[in-house]
Amino acid sequence: MHQKFEFEYEILEDNGGLSNDDQELLEAAKKATKTAYAPYSNFHVGAAARLSNGQIVIGSNQESTSFPVGICAERTLLNSVGSQFPELSITAMAISYQPLNKGSIEPISPCGMCRQSLLDYENRYGAHIKIILSGMSGKVMVIPTAANLLPFGFDGSILK
Ligand code: THU
Repeated sequence: MHQKFEFEYEILEDNGGLSNDDQELLEAAKKATKTAYAPYSNFHVGAAARLSNGQIVIGSNQESTSFPVGICAERTLLNSVGSQFPELSITAMAISYQPLNKGSIEPISPCGMCRQSLLDYENRYGAHIKIILSGMSGKVMVIPTAANLLPFGFDGSILK
């Protein structure tokens, strides 16, 4: 049997095509790049989550002298939401970045580990997380659910 995985997503020319709420979320992600601790890569990533009560929470990458110990913005944020607001789901996450002395006009997308963590969070709450990706300016990608980013992701059901 032949199978195919595909998904639809949007590419907007700029943030003007987003709803007011999503523009606010993306602005929070851009601002969060300023809280990154990235002295080794000089690559400052910011993420912002919209919670089911409307509140915005931010996270950023936090690097370590022992490089693999560092953590991406997305997982900093997910772990922070999971510990501070365990009763709330996330409805959307915006991710932006600012490399030191370089432009940031193209979206970046989450690494494999963060995709797993996003999928875990979706499964935990049974709620889609809309993913909004953009540099500090330029086009914006909108992906309807984090599960789109991780085909055949491990969902843990076999552990039960
Ligand atoms: N990084 C993130 O925080 N999120 C991503 O989506 C990609 C990479 C961080 C990890 C590391 O601190 C730096 O960016 C360079 O890889």
